[in-house]
Amino acid sequence: MARRIYLFDTTLRDGEQSPGFSMNIGEKLTMAKQLARLGVDIIEAGFPISSEGDFEAVRTIAREVRKPTIAGLARAVPGDIDRCWDAVKDASRPRIHTFIATSDIHILHKFKTTRKEILRRTVKAVKRAKGYCDDVEFSAEDAFRSDVDFLCQVVEAAIDAGATTINIPDTVGYAIPSEFGELIRKIRERVPNIDAAVLSVHCHNDLGLAVANSLAAVQNGAGQIEGSINGIGERAGNASLEEIIMAVKTRKALFQVSTGVKAEEIYKTSRLLSRITGIGVQPNKAIVGKNAFAHEAGIHQDGMLKDARTYEIMTPESVGLPQSHLVLGKHSGRHALQKRLQSLGLKLSKEQVNSAFERFKDLCDKKKEVFDEDLIAIVAQEIVTVPEIFRLEYLNTNSGSSTIPTATVILRRENETFQDSSTGDGPVDAAYRAIDKITGLPGKLAEYSITAVTSGKDALGEAKVKVRFGDWEVPAKAASTDIIEASVRAYLVAVNKMLAARPAEKGRKRTSPKAKPRGF
Ligand code: KIV
Ligand code: ZN
Repeated sequence: MARRIYLFDTTLRDGEQSPGFSMNIGEKLTMAKQLARLGVDIIEAGFPISSEGDFEAVRTIAREVRKPTIAGLARAVPGDIDRCWDAVKDASRPRIHTFIATSDIHILHKFKTTRKEILRRTVKAVKRAKGYCDDVEFSAEDAFRSDVDFLCQVVEAAIDAGATTINIPDTVGYAIPSEFGELIRKIRERVPNIDAAVLSVHCHNDLGLAVANSLAAVQNGAGQIEGSINGIGERAGNASLEEIIMAVKTRKALFQVSTGVKAEEIYKTSRLLSRITGIGVQPNKAIVGKNAFAHEAGIHQDGMLKDARTYEIMTPESVGLPQSHLVLGKHSGRHALQKRLQSLGLKLSKEQVNSAFERFKDLCDKKKEVFDEDLIAIVAQEIVTVPEIFRLEYLNTNSGSSTIPTATVILRRENETFQDSSTGDGPVDAAYRAIDKITGLPGKLAEYSITAVTSGKDALGEAKVKVRFGDWEVPAKAASTDIIEASVRAYLVAVNKMLAARPAEKGRKRTSPKAKPRGF
């Protein structure tokens, strides 16, 4: 059966103390509630002695977030431990987390003392914490660079003094996975009372190995993993909790451990932290980055469309993302384009898809990513048989050397007719403006020409237009013996093309909130 491991979240302590990530009490509380929904076992809510604000934040979280254990950090000194207890004592499951460095470099240069004195302070601190609280975690700061025999001696003494969790930090992110796993194995083998405590690890990411080292520790029997959301923390950060969660979940057969988390809450938790701190994650960040479930290469997209397991080892849904994202760009193939068009409700013939694909590729040379609006405009240009969404029912224009050009237009859409009038720079412009008012889809005339397509006085005049809708130009033409009518009809063809290409228009009754049915 899978061994249950505990997840200790230090986003609000180690994470929050790093530059740019500070949070106020309300923000910390919001984050703590979300961490509880995610299902972490322990929330380290802050370092109560460090400031009034941190004390208040820990106390508030202890009172309001009831499911997880709430821990506060304390140096191995009486004042810190007393203050920490004051902050966490109202929690349903309080924990005092006390620490002291055990590496010679810290003992000699930071404390300017001896190993013997560190041992003495360890025991004293753990006993003091134990006097308040059953649940005491002891961390041997800079454990990885400590002399292993001394480290084992300190760990044994801390457990004897009452520590229920022993944490082995790689404080400066110096370890590599094989060494770190080996250290955990040695501690388990050498410390006689080790089974009386949960063995925890806390890895920093200075060499980008925090998650790998934590996982090596899991493989060597660690029972608690410390980390933070989005991997925030001192310097290069802590082990990213979401990566650990998904690694042990995705490779369950290998790790044979389980956690108490609801992984579907990961994405929400990560985004909440980014929103609160104003600091996003890199796009290619594992699990929660914008590109973590995005595919652009044509071969990958084709594989994904056939079976997502070809290029995804976990589903986006499993971390709370609605779906994978096929990014349409210059590496995308026809298959992905066709699928996206279908998902937009745009049904094209094979020839139209081929032609749209060519336009799409041209566009990709100009744009990094092609969005749905771009596709709609491309499709608008492929539509040869234009559905008459709006039909011209009536047109009256007035112009002359001393009159302001005006136009009145009546358009029919299904069973309703819509009427509007406008002035303009000329009768055609006035009619176009009246049409815009009715359709609610303002176009800009980019090109316009009139040619006679037949001869004689009653020659049929053909109006050719290119109408710009946003960034897109839609070509259209229409003929009539009346060149103003030909111009208006051509414009209407462009409008109808654009509307036909917009899936939202299908089945929509009213054309725009501005359009007034006639007679109103
Ligand atoms: O990195 C570290 O050693 C710490 C301890 C206080 C656990 O953050
Ligand atoms: Zn740390």
